[in-house]
Amino acid sequence: MSVWTKRHVTVVVSGGIASYKALVLIRSLMKQGAVVRVAMTAHAAEFVTPLTFQTLTQQPVVLDEFTTTDPQHVVHVALADWTEVMVLVPATANLIAKVANGLADDAATTTVLATTAPKFVVPAMNSHMYANPATQRNLEQLTADGLHVLTPATGMLAEGYAGQGRLPEPEAILAWLTDQLIQLTPDLPLAGRHVVVTAGGTREALDPVRFITNRSSGKMGYALAQVAREMGATVTLISATTHLPVPTGVTIVPVDSASSLLTAVRTAFDDADILVMAAAVSDYRPTELATQKIKKPAGHGDLMLQLTETPDILKTLAAEKKHQYVVGFAAETQDLLANANRKLTHKKLDLLVANDVSQPGVGFNGDTNQVTLLRPHQQPVTTELASKTAIAKIILETAIADGALN
Ligand SMILES: Cc1cc2nc3c(=O)[nH]c(=O)nc-3n(C[C@H](O)[C@H](O)[C@H](O)COP(=O)(O)O)c2cc1C
Repeated sequence: MSVWTKRHVTVVVSGGIASYKALVLIRSLMKQGAVVRVAMTAHAAEFVTPLTFQTLTQQPVVLDEFTTTDPQHVVHVALADWTEVMVLVPATANLIAKVANGLADDAATTTVLATTAPKFVVPAMNSHMYANPATQRNLEQLTADGLHVLTPATGMLAEGYAGQGRLPEPEAILAWLTDQLIQLTPDLPLAGRHVVVTAGGTREALDPVRFITNRSSGKMGYALAQVAREMGATVTLISATTHLPVPTGVTIVPVDSASSLLTAVRTAFDDADILVMAAAVSDYRPTELATQKIKKPAGHGDLMLQLTETPDILKTLAAEKKHQYVVGFAAETQDLLANANRKLTHKKLDLLVANDVSQPGVGFNGDTNQVTLLRPHQQPVTTELASKTAIAKIILETAIADGALN
């Protein structure tokens, strides 16, 4: 389930060089579970044929309502009433001007005027057209009228020079739309709640160029942050260094060492409803941090490193805990349940997610995981091997069912 599942989405396509990109966006919306219909302007049909949109959506395309053969319906009203979400993409300067002034001189603009659904506008045009005071005035009017407008990208334009006005890539448009829709959907399970997630492996510096870390990729934590956002939460993702893209709509707090992670978690913890500690935090750090790069000791083969314990974040937070529901992770290579149970009790967790990282497809780096969920005084539950996104969903649903929001 996503915010798009079974949503009736009308995509209004106008006539610009980026019209073909609406096809890619429509495919993505359909993949997310949306039912998509298209209304297009006559000029849009100069760029991409209605047949292409019709075939892709498996729905009739609204183009010219005056030659309709359907006597049962007034085409634009039927489509406007059916619509739950409307996306104008690409929105030409002309379409923006018409909508801003309430013009309705074709099927597309009449449908826009006739629907009460939330409307999202994705402008795309030449940079001078975009910067023109008339266009800017029209865009301001759309915002004032309650439409949601995406700022165009800056880059190479079809005209062969760079400027602001490009249609953002379809993935970026989908991410923006999804985030907007989450904000407009108050009945999502985590709406109005704050979820704090930590992710990635911390780094403990030895000298200016070296550090001690672990094999954590951050994928489990990032999946949790994304799923929590999709479930409606305000999400703070406290992340050690990773190479992963930050999920849209999530506030990122970059950290480095265990101690910087502790500082960030303490700051976010106070008004958190759920804290999920998915980061792989170093248990030790080098006792001395060398100010210069450590050289090979002259005449000796070995170098001794002395390590000092890092702060125990979960234990520290257990002492500060009020209403928060705290989820910990345990990556084990042996005695999974015994070690995990000890951690659950010792660190006063509400839920412990244990995984045996010695098993294929489980734990670090991969895209899948299989976990055992332990809660105080309840039987452990072991999941199937599944995508980290699916596991994230199970973890958050378990927390909610366990009373995390009470
Ligand atoms: C090749 C070509 C590319 C165009 N690209 C754009 C564009 O990207 N954005 C835009 O606002 N207008 C663009 N135009 C101008 C629009 O097609 C024109 O303003 C038209 O009246 C828009 O009609 P519509 O808004 O009803 O689709 C382009 C025109 C041509 C001939």
